[in-house]
Amino acid sequence: ELAYYDGQFISIDEKVIPIEERGHQFGDGVYEFIRVYDGRPFLLTEHLERLERSSKEILLTPSLSKEEITAIVEDGLQRTGLLEAEIYMQFTRGIAPRNHLFPHVPSQFSMTIRPAKVIPSEKRNGVAVLTLEDERWKNCYIKSLNLLPNLLAKQRAVSQGFEEAILVKDGFITEGSSSNVFVVKHGTLYTTPATNRILHGITRAAVLECANRVNVSFQEKDMNMDFFLDADEAFFTSTSVELMPISRINETSLPRERPITASLHSAYKKLYAKK
Ligand code: PDD
Repeated sequence: ELAYYDGQFISIDEKVIPIEERGHQFGDGVYEFIRVYDGRPFLLTEHLERLERSSKEILLTPSLSKEEITAIVEDGLQRTGLLEAEIYMQFTRGIAPRNHLFPHVPSQFSMTIRPAKVIPSEKRNGVAVLTLEDERWKNCYIKSLNLLPNLLAKQRAVSQGFEEAILVKDGFITEGSSSNVFVVKHGTLYTTPATNRILHGITRAAVLECANRVNVSFQEKDMNMDFFLDADEAFFTSTSVELMPISRINETSLPRERPITASLHSAYKKLYAKK
């Protein structure tokens, strides 16, 4: 494992963040989380483009180009020698005396590289999710550092014995606390439309591409609770969990057969597997 801050590789537990870093005083920044398979960062271009988009939306000027970030990522991976890894990176609006107005200082880039978390295989048989009110702001397509509502939802779900919180806004499923949601019904795949209400997941887009490849028809649809509870199959997606089958929503169990989830997950694995 390894970290990068202020232009240098450092040890991951080194104390380096200045007290007036806007990232920790205001959550004033944006981030990405990327999975490395067999030494290669998966869908890196897509992640860097989303980071650029998120930065633009919060009027933050990245202090590094996508090419420069890619070089730092490659260098970091070489240094750790890790083949199965996860990379966290963020831009904050820099270091300046605390003031709500933007400072005229360069943004700060930081990164960590850690071994990829191993997902217990029994979870692949399905996990329980808890639906909770989506209390977030109106710009959830921005991958911003402000995650308090997401943390509170996840904490509440897990403390009650569930694996993930599925957020509901105005009666419709938006997404998970750190994942996107899919439903399969009568052979068709459904997922929440990519509006301002959700993060436009890189895994979500890859799964839709997989649906094309395995000839599963799909539709973006606002799904209410009745639709969700009546799913033939349901799963959530993220960079870290890939496709995670849902076995139970609150107290309602879903069917145990999940042919379409299984076929989409194999197609997804083919996207990153060595040719
Ligand atoms: N979270 N929705 C939210 C709110 C998320 O935080 C995430 C990812 C996703 C899935 O996005 P992607 O497929 O691009 O990983 C959806 C990351 C993993 C995190 O917060 O660490």
